[in-house]
Amino acid sequence: MLMLKPHFSTNPQGHLVIGGADAVELAERFGTPLYVVDEQRMRENYRRVYHAFAERWPSVFVCYALKANSNLAICKIMQSENAGAEVSSGNELRNALNVGVPGERAIFNGNHKSPPELEYAITNNVLINVDSFQELNVVESIASRIGKKARIGFRVNPDVETPTHPYIATGLRESKFGFDVASGQALEAYKLASKMTNVEVVAIHAHIGSQILDVGPFEEEAEKLMALVVEIKKSFNINLQFVDFGGGIGVPYKPDDPELKPEQVAERIVTVVKRVVEEKNLTKPTIVFEPGRSIIADASVLLARVGYTKERPGMPTWVAVDAGMNALIRPALYGAYHHIELANKILEKNEKLFNVAGPLCESGDFLGKERKLPATEPGDLAVIFDVGAYGLAVSNQHTAQPRPAMVLVNRGKAEIVRKRESYEDLTRLDQIPGWLK
Ligand SMILES: Cc1ncc(COP(=O)(O)O)c(C=O)c1O
Repeated sequence: MLMLKPHFSTNPQGHLVIGGADAVELAERFGTPLYVVDEQRMRENYRRVYHAFAERWPSVFVCYALKANSNLAICKIMQSENAGAEVSSGNELRNALNVGVPGERAIFNGNHKSPPELEYAITNNVLINVDSFQELNVVESIASRIGKKARIGFRVNPDVETPTHPYIATGLRESKFGFDVASGQALEAYKLASKMTNVEVVAIHAHIGSQILDVGPFEEEAEKLMALVVEIKKSFNINLQFVDFGGGIGVPYKPDDPELKPEQVAERIVTVVKRVVEEKNLTKPTIVFEPGRSIIADASVLLARVGYTKERPGMPTWVAVDAGMNALIRPALYGAYHHIELANKILEKNEKLFNVAGPLCESGDFLGKERKLPATEPGDLAVIFDVGAYGLAVSNQHTAQPRPAMVLVNRGKAEIVRKRESYEDLTRLDQIPGWLK
């Protein structure tokens, strides 16, 4: 059995307990596959990131990155913590506003924001991190048409290498995001904007990648962003109010992965900001951080029922569960590791080797390979750990599998926050054209 984090425990029946609720009972009551999110753990994770920065710098703004999981109940929890919202689509912004996040406390990022999405953001005074020269022109013309001043920053590409999966490394020069710093495009963007009448330039933004377990890249990012802050002040006399370092703090998915503490990240970033502010006599900016994964990943598990097992002489036994790459695509997409145990045999010894497969018609449909579990049989309950970030948010309906339900637990209470999809949900938007009827 794995060393459980403090928001988990076990009970005398030998079951896993999350947020005070017995996982086996949750599966019986709500069915499987089932995402379970522990509200208290999310709150603790958010507060830890917030305090890591706030204890070191006087003005801090932490925005929860909705892309990790934009369920309304999750957004509401974050809003009740007074977190800002980092959004990357008009609908994520709608979610944030719907749960009561003020537009001024939302930040809109992304390399393709449509004109209607931009108009929605400008109307609501959202800070927009512009990602291209063409987008800057679109923002300026929408703001002029609707008679508002758009609050903007620029996403810059600082060319920082991060030790993570290439699909989630976003700060390299060749990535699609941001204005190139090396060639002077980033400065050119500030110059152009400084002459525009319908934008107010208040921020600089970068996000170097996700699932980063090493503090070094954050320090490099801070050095590069602060050098630009100095240059922007010198060249265009703009005092940037917000310096936004994106998200990216990784979580230890494997039992022996190192932990990157938010305090380590805050310490390195703040040290750089402080030094440059003092040396160059700058007005103190607000430090912005946009965590997603580190808030919700370890607050959630996926429960999946074992349907069948199949021996392969000389190889790990296949165990097929009712959740696969439809419910959690990270193992198939990134080769990501998620720890797996049996929730109903959590105290038993893991002694046999298994490959854990989903129900889909693809060989890539697995949740884990070569994992040790107790003797496993149909009806057992698998628990997949650390699935809160980019789990349900990236789920799909491959082979017409309905998306799982999600339940929120809080000190023993449990309530559905996302219903299980039904057959009607799966086919609701399909239509058979007239000529086939
Ligand atoms: C712009 C931006 N901000 C914040 C995040 C959140 O990152 P993480 O979940 O790694 O904290 C992302 C994730 O890709 C992002 O692209």
